[in-house]
Amino acid sequence: MTEPLLLIDTADGIRTLRINRPDKLNALNAGVIDALDAAFADAGRDPDVRVVVLTGAGPKAFVAGADIAEMHALSPAHGRDFSLRGSRMMRRIERLPKPVIAMINGFALGGGLELAMSCHLRIAADTAKLGQPEINLGLIPGFGGSQRLLRLCGRAATLELCLTGAPITAERALQLGIVNRVVPAAELEAETGRLAAQLATAAPLALRGLLDCVNIGGECGLEEGLEYESAQFGLMFATHDMREGTAAFLDKRKPAFTGT
Ligand code: COA
Repeated sequence: MTEPLLLIDTADGIRTLRINRPDKLNALNAGVIDALDAAFADAGRDPDVRVVVLTGAGPKAFVAGADIAEMHALSPAHGRDFSLRGSRMMRRIERLPKPVIAMINGFALGGGLELAMSCHLRIAADTAKLGQPEINLGLIPGFGGSQRLLRLCGRAATLELCLTGAPITAERALQLGIVNRVVPAAELEAETGRLAAQLATAAPLALRGLLDCVNIGGECGLEEGLEYESAQFGLMFATHDMREGTAAFLDKRKPAFTGT
């Protein structure tokens, strides 16, 4: 029997997706891209899923990039299709109405860094290496790397990473604002688990509203963004969870959020 390309596990509202091509450092081929697309669509729909953790199988890599062997012989039209396939899948992650954490357990290169950047939060092992090495292949990023990196950390770092192709350490990625946290490799699973557990008990509709605000706000002017936030804020008053959260504070007890 062939191994699945994606290992899927759900516990306590946390869905863990583990890309499973460790012998190819979890490189993104069309099969992995399609499996991720389907898995994120399902996670978005499933009310039992409150948060998603995305990682790579094996000790070495989160994802070492798009599959170079698969790309080598593509025509321009198929290259474009491959780019769109990955880009649309990553856009789905970015727009998921639930938080997605990238648990970066090793190399996050090329499509791997692009995939991590489409997640909402990134925790990296101190041993991880990150970069956009496409230039070394006579290529440029094709799954949104030049655009998301620019928005995450500005022109200087984007141009340095993409023009030189040189990988950087997790610590440097933290300084540049590319990752949220760096932890010793041995503590990566536990630290990610704690963050995921915290998000899994937060109010789902408030999480969704916040993700919407940041997604919309990143793409429009301040005036529209502020208006949008006010509208979302008002919408929260229609939720049971907002009444529960404020009542729990006043009663000096822990809130129990239900997503209603
Ligand atoms: N696409 C396809 N296969 C890949 C891959 C990728 N992006 N990255 C690694 N692999 C494969 C290797 O070809 C090798 O396969 P093989 O055992 O059948 O020869 C296997 O994964 C292990 O990789 P290897 O290069 O032997 O490991 P390493 O520890 O010596 O080097 C890297 C690790 C990450 C430095 C190196 O694999 C690398 O540079 N990968 C490509 C990174 C890249 O350019 N990504 C952007 C793609 S657009």
